[in-house]
Amino acid sequence: MDEIKPNAGNESSDISFEKRQIIRSLSNFEDFPALNPRTARIISMLREKFINIPKLAMIMERNKTFRDHFVKLSGVPEMGEDTVKEAMRALGLLNTKHLICSFLIMPLYTFNDREEWEHVYTTSILICNMLKHYRLPETSALPLTALLHDIGIPLLRRFTPHRYDQIKRYARESRQLLEEVEEANLNISHAVAGGICARKWSLTDDIFVPISYHHSHEELDEPEEMLRDIYLLQYADWLDHQARNLPCLRPDNKQLIKFGFQDSDEAYWLDYQKLLLDSVSFSSFESGGDPDSFSLRNTFNEAVGHLVVPLGFVEKVRREKAQHQFEEEQRQLSESRGSTLDLGRIIKEKLLRKKESSATSTNTGIAPGEINIIPPANTYTAETQTQVFSRPRSDKPSFNFEENKPLRLRSNGKVLETATRVFKRPTLNGDKKD
Ligand SMILES: [Fe+2]
Ligand SMILES: [Fe+2]
Repeated sequence: MDEIKPNAGNESSDISFEKRQIIRSLSNFEDFPALNPRTARIISMLREKFINIPKLAMIMERNKTFRDHFVKLSGVPEMGEDTVKEAMRALGLLNTKHLICSFLIMPLYTFNDREEWEHVYTTSILICNMLKHYRLPETSALPLTALLHDIGIPLLRRFTPHRYDQIKRYARESRQLLEEVEEANLNISHAVAGGICARKWSLTDDIFVPISYHHSHEELDEPEEMLRDIYLLQYADWLDHQARNLPCLRPDNKQLIKFGFQDSDEAYWLDYQKLLLDSVSFSSFESGGDPDSFSLRNTFNEAVGHLVVPLGFVEKVRREKAQHQFEEEQRQLSESRGSTLDLGRIIKEKLLRKKESSATSTNTGIAPGEINIIPPANTYTAETQTQVFSRPRSDKPSFNFEENKPLRLRSNGKVLETATRVFKRPTLNGDKKD
């Protein structure tokens, strides 16, 4: 394993010569990633002031996976040949352009570059939302620039595979800036390497310059609009690194304030990005074949399914989380209500049983829990009981058959009579034995 230098320090009178050498070698690198001519045509079409929507819709129809995912994200129902156009209208131009650019740029990152892809993708989503938030022109190339800003890493990794992974690991473990470790060991940073890609692919200056300068923190002599794009890209890149807990230099605050950013925005965007990272992940992909191939083809369809609508995505995640939390609380509440009802029913039943039991004990005189055992009677004692009663005085009962009336007893007064009855009762201990 080659020794990794921490940073360039002040060795090097020949550094510019070495830099020139590596730039030349990279430019002539035989495996230089190629930007598909069709991709380049679509990108330049997306950059036109007036976009030909029917033509774009026709192009999108050619990839069924992307077309179907795009329509699904828009929420537009299938309506024949106008479906894609309606989906584009529903999503809006910035979202549509971002989804198409992501679909086109993603194959430039390999399976080995999936960490870089995820970073550039989430940075690009953040930039789309910043454009909207700060009312910057939607025609800006920044979302596309953000998707390409670290393309120098896949290039350097491909150029010097094992060495580059050592450099990246060293920078990560020692928490040093990656671009400084790259400069010290390869005489070039991925920012400059990315600029070489942009030039090689004939991308315009508004893409080339921010990519090349996205790790430059000295005074830059560039037009105002270009400076705004550079600082916005640096800021979004820094926020994404912060959210991932990775080292990165923060752009000059004075410059940020000059372009309309405020200190108070920082916590908001940082929180925004953390939530975005939690919700967008490409890290679970399996390598389906050749990891060195400059394409995510093996997992491409799966990756397409991970593309999201950038504008308001985090807000949508927040709403869904709040809804989920609300439903969870309702479920818990209803469960606790159910158990309260059960508890009430149980208490009610217990009280009722107690009442019945106490009523029984009152009636019988038996205390709850006691059983009064009555022994079977072996002997019985004869007793007599005499009652005195009065009865109507009448010689004979009379009836009124003619009127068919119930039997009536006609009385001529009352007479007292006595009746005696004899019965048996169980012999008790105190009884006199016969
Ligand atoms: Fe970078
Ligand atoms: Fe970056």
